[in-house]
Amino acid sequence: MSTPITSSVELDRNRIRRLTAEETEVLNERTGASGAMYTRANQVLSGGVASSYQLREPWPIYLERGVGPKVWDADGNEYYDFHNGFGSMVQGHAHPAIGRAVAERYEQGTHFAAPTEDAIVVGEELARRFRLPRWRYTNSGSESTMDAIRIARGLTGRDDVLKIFGSYHGHHDTVMVSIGVEYDKIGDPQAPNSLPYGAGIPQATVDQVHAVHFNDAEAMDRRITELDREGRKPACVIMEAAMMNLGVVLPEEGYLEAVREITRRHGVVLIFDEVKTGMTIAAGGAVERFGVDPDMVTLAKALGGGLPTGAIGMTEEVAKVVEDGTVYQVGTYNGNPLGMAATRANLLEVMTDEAYAHLHHLNDRIIAGCDAVVAEHRLPAYTVGIGSKGCVTFATEKVVDYPSFKRAQDPELSELAWVWSMNRGIFMTPGREEEWTLSVTHTDETVDRYVEVFSELAAAITR
Ligand SMILES: Cc1ncc(COP(=O)(O)O)c(C=O)c1O
Repeated sequence: MSTPITSSVELDRNRIRRLTAEETEVLNERTGASGAMYTRANQVLSGGVASSYQLREPWPIYLERGVGPKVWDADGNEYYDFHNGFGSMVQGHAHPAIGRAVAERYEQGTHFAAPTEDAIVVGEELARRFRLPRWRYTNSGSESTMDAIRIARGLTGRDDVLKIFGSYHGHHDTVMVSIGVEYDKIGDPQAPNSLPYGAGIPQATVDQVHAVHFNDAEAMDRRITELDREGRKPACVIMEAAMMNLGVVLPEEGYLEAVREITRRHGVVLIFDEVKTGMTIAAGGAVERFGVDPDMVTLAKALGGGLPTGAIGMTEEVAKVVEDGTVYQVGTYNGNPLGMAATRANLLEVMTDEAYAHLHHLNDRIIAGCDAVVAEHRLPAYTVGIGSKGCVTFATEKVVDYPSFKRAQDPELSELAWVWSMNRGIFMTPGREEEWTLSVTHTDETVDRYVEVFSELAAAITR
């Protein structure tokens, strides 16, 4: 990670707004077929999309196909993909090994709701990677975090949950609390507000969910003690070991070790939500990368190599409540043979040690390239990355948690960077909170193009 540049140039905000307007017009002209599809989609799909996170004004960019590091949109525009399906396609698109596994499995039947051998092979490999002995499967990240929290509640007999303010863990009620909040609504730094993320979340659920800020272990200790005193000690702490929805925010030295000690001392189950970090930052995700062992791990996204597959890892003690029938962890499509075949190929053939070495090389290269651009143009920005993930954070202050993100991150520059990149063949996740995900099919040339486009942007805004 580079150090935030404090003596950065003063940016001309009018120029940034003018460039954004010009680039948006160019993008709209280049993506007319997406516009037409959106009009048609609006006749049958609510708001024209399958998930509200696919929305974008004036229309989403519809993709037609992807191969390796590239995708093509409905107008035939070609891009290098750094979005990679919200961080799911670390294998690259249409990977032959995964295609082969899916095709072979298809011929033998795709769904029985009875167990198959691949589920055992996947469990063995996940146990090895994440140092957790017991596994169950789901079909998404939300299902993984929902079931993990239920298991923690079943184990402890407690209802309350502690999370990190601003962290996203999926779309079930318990975790749709205290995210996407405006700066002035965050509340007391020591006991931030519990606020519903959109309507439809019962107030009773919101009241059971408490939040503390990332990178502040003392606040976590204090909050658990307070909640315990009030008779509502949390069943679990659910958190990402490195936050992946404020760009990338890494844990400060000693933070995760302190969290592990605090949760153990209080008898609170520690869940590392590795839906984003799991397959992308190391073979054994944050557990391997940071060397801290949680009681549970949740996986999804890149696990299934593009198929909707999730998993929950548990210690033997935690898994007991599933095994003795105290908690039901169930689902018709859990361990689906097609998903398991893809996951098996993904883990054993694609995401190998060599693949991670390649990703680390590429990430070092793209970060060094972006660092050089930031330094040359004295941009109010810094780079941060880990494994296959990273971003340029447009801020003069280092972002360590949600309040510093809201205070310091520059939304106008983030928006311009997105549209600028799209018009130059770099497909990025829309939204100021996202980061790049590299794939094993990316090359030096791919990441160099990213840096080149960023360099052109830097020149345009500082000219
Ligand atoms: C950390 C984390 N957990 C859980 C989820 C939810 O996963 P899904 O969208 O597959 O339900 C996400 C999705 O972005 C996530 O980033």
